[in-house]
Amino acid sequence: MNLFFFFLVLVSPASSIPLSSVRSSALASTLPFPGDKFIRTLLRSHAPKFATGIPLAVSPPITQRNLALFRTAALNLNITHPVTFLDDSRKFHYPVFETTKCQLGKDTDNVTPFLDSTTLGTYFKDIFQMIPSWTNGDTVLSRFDLFHGHLFANPSTGAVGVVFHSKEYPAENTETFPFNLGYCQINSNVTFVQKIMRKRNIIWIIDDRDRTSLWRVDMGVRTGDSAIDTILGGEPFYTLYEGSLGNVVADLYYLNGLELSVSLY
Ligand SMILES: *[C@@H]1O[C@H](CO)[C@@H](O)[C@H](O)[C@H]1NC(C)=O
Ligand SMILES: *[C@@H]1O[C@H](CO)[C@@H](O)[C@H](O)[C@H]1NC(C)=O
Repeated sequence: MNLFFFFLVLVSPASSIPLSSVRSSALASTLPFPGDKFIRTLLRSHAPKFATGIPLAVSPPITQRNLALFRTAALNLNITHPVTFLDDSRKFHYPVFETTKCQLGKDTDNVTPFLDSTTLGTYFKDIFQMIPSWTNGDTVLSRFDLFHGHLFANPSTGAVGVVFHSKEYPAENTETFPFNLGYCQINSNVTFVQKIMRKRNIIWIIDDRDRTSLWRVDMGVRTGDSAIDTILGGEPFYTLYEGSLGNVVADLYYLNGLELSVSLY
């Protein structure tokens, strides 16, 4: 049975504007996803109209091996079995803000770091830390801007990826951004600028041959191919929905000063 439901992500309960997605249930789906062609195009084309490649450094062999195992585990929708990637002994409470009313993570309770031996915590932390310079300062690491990504697994291509959402809580502004996003938006120092907002999604992918790539998507582009354009657009929020790209397996969180950690679906 396929259950589909609306799921409000990263928006506190009082929020009126959902930066949300239609998300499939945790049950494995092998059905096509709306984003299949979007992913195929990213993986096949050197210069897709809707994304710019960001160079990735070559990883050490141990990281490459673990990324390959991690891809398989994510496709099986279980990154705690048969290989354990997470260190349950070091779970911690993710911080909350605005006298606990702003909850940045999807769970109120614990988040879990990667096992040190997998090297994946460092791998993904490095990606978070390098995004600000890769975007020429358009993105900063903060609880209002970039602090999370969503891990998805796409069964038709065998690809697994992370959609990083920057500019999560732009400040409310009567002229340029008249939207109440709830408690986590309070005191936001992120100014809404449309030409930056449309490039707020960054996507990391590992394909079925375990090759990795990183892309900055321009949601404002129209390609003329409806199978791709259905994934793009969405002004003024320009959210690239992880649930349209595959089964959503986990969220990755990274706030400066805290260990990169994971929350499972
Ligand atoms: C993953 O596997 C573990 C160990 O078999 C099991 O306890 C857990 O429920 C599984 N999680 C999911 C989401 O299937
Ligand atoms: C914006 O807010 C974040 C989170 O409080 C803070 O870390 C950052 O320094 C602030 N940036 C500016 C430019 O004030």
